[in-house]
Amino acid sequence: MTVATEEQPVGDLKSILVVDDDEATRGVIIDALRESCYFNTREVENGQQALSLLKTASFDLVISDLKMPGMSGLDLLTRIKHLDSSTPVIIITGYPTIDLTVSAMKEGAVDFLTKPFKIDDLIFKVNLYLQERSLLSEEDRDERGTRWKLGEKIRELSTIRLIGERIEQRRGLAGDDMFDEIVKLSLALTRGETGLIVLVDETNKCFLNKSICHNNQRADADSGDMLEARLTPLFRETVLSRAPLLINGDHSLRADDSLIAVPLTIRGSKIFGILAIFSGDGTTIFTRKDLTHVQNLAERASLYLENTILYESLFGSIMNTFESLIHSIHARDNYTERHSRSVTHLSLLTAKTMGCSDYEIESLRISAHLHDIGKIAVPDHILLKPAPLSDDEYRIIQTHAEAGEDILKSIALFDRERSIVRHHHERWDGRGYPDGLTRNKIPLLARILSVADTFDAMTSDRPYRKALPPAVAVDEIRDNRWKQLDGDVVDAFLSALDEARQPSKH
Ligand SMILES: [Fe+2]
Repeated sequence: MTVATEEQPVGDLKSILVVDDDEATRGVIIDALRESCYFNTREVENGQQALSLLKTASFDLVISDLKMPGMSGLDLLTRIKHLDSSTPVIIITGYPTIDLTVSAMKEGAVDFLTKPFKIDDLIFKVNLYLQERSLLSEEDRDERGTRWKLGEKIRELSTIRLIGERIEQRRGLAGDDMFDEIVKLSLALTRGETGLIVLVDETNKCFLNKSICHNNQRADADSGDMLEARLTPLFRETVLSRAPLLINGDHSLRADDSLIAVPLTIRGSKIFGILAIFSGDGTTIFTRKDLTHVQNLAERASLYLENTILYESLFGSIMNTFESLIHSIHARDNYTERHSRSVTHLSLLTAKTMGCSDYEIESLRISAHLHDIGKIAVPDHILLKPAPLSDDEYRIIQTHAEAGEDILKSIALFDRERSIVRHHHERWDGRGYPDGLTRNKIPLLARILSVADTFDAMTSDRPYRKALPPAVAVDEIRDNRWKQLDGDVVDAFLSALDEARQPSKH
């Protein structure tokens, strides 16, 4: 049995708290401490009682069991560290696992003893940590505690800010890229090996894999599918329980596996997906702190992804509605539907040649497709007239640009595209309609659309005239550089057309 030496702190001045639900173990520890002159010891049987005591009295050291009913030793440890981070805590357990040991150390335990332990070992460690603590002056302890708390707060705030900033910075990303970014961010926060986002497919009662990243790279489809299949039962459990999951080497996983799975929710209620972090090599064991980080990220990501997913589904249904409008025009006038497809194709070729951004190209794709949608408001006898139009009839045809804008106005999502549709009949020289805009006052994408539209109209059969041969239309377009059409756009269009006609390029 160890006896207190002169270098050791005077036992009765040091206070020790023993927390264990097993009365016999508590008795053994208390007896050993008293025999070593630590008379100022208190014992409680659970974490809750320990916390109440710690709020009214200070202890120089805490010895706590890990598995207890109610609050676990790990939870108690975290709370003790928040009350006074300088308090040394020794954790004891009868069910040792590597993950629990690592978690306890990460949370700030000074040591870990497994049952059955040698009393001498325990007393040796008690002496050691009390000595170390007594070497720190009260000021040092206060400072160390304050610094720890401050550091902890800063780390938390930095992490939260980092999450917010990263998501903000990537706001413009398309849905799938955003999924990858969120997965990579969660891996960086937790040092996890593999991260994934799956969406809940309620119709087919399954999960759709949106992103799997392994060591910061997109995982290949096969390994991603295998992992997803392994984790699917746990994802189901997460959806059913609506609670985050932290599993270390138990449950249905392998001993070395560690997993965090957090639900992604729409407006905090409906679960639309799961963000999961996985490590299967035994080197990383996720802690509660990691879980908090992933939950924080999932909350922020939910807000963003919710918008993206809603946008995509809303966008999909709106496009379907417009498609059916285009089809209904087609029922009257089969020129418009074919013309829409062809103008879209030619516009995109030109925009790519001019180096437009992905964002502009997407915008052009929508507006080119819908540019003549306003023709739905033009009566049949004018739209389908097999003869040149009178001035009045021509004025009615011209209303299709504004009518198209009006149709899109009802949908806030199409603000950018609306102005392209409105201005697709403006002319560089200001003699177009509906606003007579000139030169660069006409949106660039509308100028691109205008060249493609003019070319396709000339090379198509119309009720009142036959199609012009492409070579003639090209000459006509070239003659209209800096008159009807933007000369730079015409040049890009002609070069895109040339390139598209090269058989080797296809
Ligand atoms: Fe038009």
